[in-house]
Amino acid sequence: MLCYCRPGFEPELAAELSERAALLDLPGYARTQRNQAYVEFLGTDAVALSRALPYDDLIFARQKLLRLADLQGLDPSDRITPIINALHAAYPDGRPSAYGDVWVEHPDSDEAKPLAGLARSFGNALRPALRKAGWLTRIDDPRRPRLHVIFLAGDHAMLAQASPRDGSPWQLGIPRLRMHADAPSRSALKLEEALLTLVHEHEREKLFRDNMRAADLGAAPGGWTWVMMRQGLRVISIDNGPLRPELLDSGRVEHLRADGFQWQPKGPLDWMVCDMVEQPRRVAERMATWIREGWCRHTIFNLKLPMKKRWEETRLCLELFERQAEKPLTIRARQLYHDREEITVFATPQ
Ligand SMILES: C[S@@+](CC[C@H](N)C(=O)[O-])C[C@H]1O[C@@H](n2cnc3c(N)ncnc32)[C@H](O)[C@@H]1O
Repeated sequence: MLCYCRPGFEPELAAELSERAALLDLPGYARTQRNQAYVEFLGTDAVALSRALPYDDLIFARQKLLRLADLQGLDPSDRITPIINALHAAYPDGRPSAYGDVWVEHPDSDEAKPLAGLARSFGNALRPALRKAGWLTRIDDPRRPRLHVIFLAGDHAMLAQASPRDGSPWQLGIPRLRMHADAPSRSALKLEEALLTLVHEHEREKLFRDNMRAADLGAAPGGWTWVMMRQGLRVISIDNGPLRPELLDSGRVEHLRADGFQWQPKGPLDWMVCDMVEQPRRVAERMATWIREGWCRHTIFNLKLPMKKRWEETRLCLELFERQAEKPLTIRARQLYHDREEITVFATPQ
């Protein structure tokens, strides 16, 4: 398995994959280097491993792929022939059906980012060659497995494949979100990304209806409040700091200057979101209280991670949240592209 991650978070992803595989009795080990922005997990049974570790369950992985080949010493005058040869070697009897698409990428590391131009131009050359050789459908088909070529250097690329239902639908695993001119803060992008990646499309209609009610703990200056308001919700925004005045002008937002760890709603709300900068265990406990007491049904919250032992802290906080919520929940957590030293968690009743 080959997974992308935020540069600097390779130890967390490696620990996550190793621990989960060990718990499932699947032998394997993680291989990575600091700041290379990906982790390889080498096991004896790649298919079983991939099934046991679905992308949706992974927290520190931005993308999940199955590696087919590691192509070193590529000749810049013909990188296509070795790729086609490697495909034949990986599938000596031919692929059962052609790939639906090909993405040429590079890891999101400082070292590999300058390869973006090469990836783009090489993709334009590779696509028709793969079609001609029968490895790629004539028209892109997003339902079929996708081929990935990942450049690590001009003469070094990895070949991998992705299942469209078990990975990120964005190149490099990075959703392209633009900061809206009216958004009160850049944090708005975090919640927008969470709604896009943690809440599945078929769930959205049920989870966001006009005039549903939400609380936003640690709301100032109001990015998350603004995102919830744009989903049609009415929001109570809790923060001692000031909110952007236009949020209040909308008539859909009420601002209360209160402590987000003390305040509780007068009646049950549909949603609670929380972006308070606090110790993650304290946040996880408070979030669990909200669910257990029925103060909200659904929640999205951030856990700011300490500098050391981030994987252990993540696991501990999620276990604590699930245990103390005392209700069967669907919980999805991920380090989003817009998350820095933090992860975002979504929970909804099962
Ligand atoms: C990262 S900012 C939130 C940004 C916000 N989500 C946005 O999109 O604009 C964290 C906020 O949490 C607030 N905060 C921290 N501790 C708090 C507490 N105990 N009660 C209420 N707000 C708190 C801070 O005042 C700060 O405005």
